[in-house]
Amino acid sequence: MKIILAYSGGLDTSVLVRWLKDHYSAEIVTFAADVGQEEELDGLAEKAKATGAVAHYTVDLVEEFASDFIYPMMRGNAIYESQYMLGTSIARPLIAKAQLDIAKAEGAGAVAHGATGKGNDQVRFELTYAALAPDIKIISPWRMPVFREMFPGRTEMIDWCRANGVDVEASASKPYSMDRNLLHISYEAGILEDPWFDPTTDENKGMFKLSTAPEDAPAEAEYVELEFEKGDCVAVNGEALTPAGVMKKLNALGGKHGVGRVDLVENRFVGMKSRGVYETPGGAILLSAHQQVESLTMDRDLQHLRDSLIPKYAELVYYGFWYAPEREALQALIDDSQKNVSGTVRLKLYRGNITTVGRKSPVSLYDENIASMEGVESDYNPDDASGFIRLQGLRLRARAKSQGGPVIA
Ligand code: ARG
Ligand code: SIN
Repeated sequence: MKIILAYSGGLDTSVLVRWLKDHYSAEIVTFAADVGQEEELDGLAEKAKATGAVAHYTVDLVEEFASDFIYPMMRGNAIYESQYMLGTSIARPLIAKAQLDIAKAEGAGAVAHGATGKGNDQVRFELTYAALAPDIKIISPWRMPVFREMFPGRTEMIDWCRANGVDVEASASKPYSMDRNLLHISYEAGILEDPWFDPTTDENKGMFKLSTAPEDAPAEAEYVELEFEKGDCVAVNGEALTPAGVMKKLNALGGKHGVGRVDLVENRFVGMKSRGVYETPGGAILLSAHQQVESLTMDRDLQHLRDSLIPKYAELVYYGFWYAPEREALQALIDDSQKNVSGTVRLKLYRGNITTVGRKSPVSLYDENIASMEGVESDYNPDDASGFIRLQGLRLRARAKSQGGPVIA
């Protein structure tokens, strides 16, 4: 048997290489996805092979992640439970898809991942496998009692590695778990499990990697201009950029000014509540800018309809139903809604805040003649409003006159 293992080179996945090889008498091929985590991806091939892998692949998915995952999600302003910008959730289907591509190229019959048995990630990986490779064998060691009994904790893993000649530099383990990509860094578990624990104190703030604390950010505000075409940001400060280029630029800008930090308690798909801390500097800028272009260019009822569907869309992304018919259908509606969403937004970044200070568009639906209080002739006739309001109030008057309603005098 040949198994493709999603591999990071850390302690857990190093254990997995050797353990899977022994347990299944299998050939292990390791796979690492570059989704912009900026961690040490060099040297992974050597490390994996030294641990027992027959081959290793590192695949650069950065542009694909930005253009085919982050951007489509941003067109919908997707946000989970009003706060979480879905940075980890949106990367999982792409990583799993790329892993399956390697399984196909290698003629492997099985895929394995190192997600725990209590989280969302296991679901996202495996729903993607189900959708794209329905017959592939899935190995999830953290849900196998034999594996869990062998490795109740980190100490047992390190001891086992020593005994089995698996080289794991005793890297200092962080007192929380971290997941980084082009859209965000998430921090959870460990010391963060206490929802009252404050990670922003002088003592603890070293945790944050993408952003300066708002109180330590520059005392001067900085302007940034984003240009959108059909819902997608195509240029920042007049410079045309690819989607990944936009994300990198906005991450640097937003990080400098301390925007996009969120500390929340979220509901996992598997049922429990979980405390998470997130840094999404570029994403936060992109989201507010996109909303501003929409405000100028999108039809009201189309916008309200699209908005009403977004909690559902965000839930689908969070749960891992990216490759699912209902997500695809919603995406088609979201994408169609963006045909007229083109224009430029000017924002000011200052100590954790994103303030909009201007927007313009060649296809704006905003009409100063209609909106103005200056009494210019236009398609809007105030006389029409009398009947409009009278009819809107018809049922309210009826309710007031019948028994139920609150009536004054
Ligand atoms: N709670 C977030 C989510 O479910 C972040 C998960 C982080 N995953 C990780 N393997 N550290 O999307
Ligand atoms: C994990 O459990 O592997 C990470 C957290 C999550 O997936 O929700």
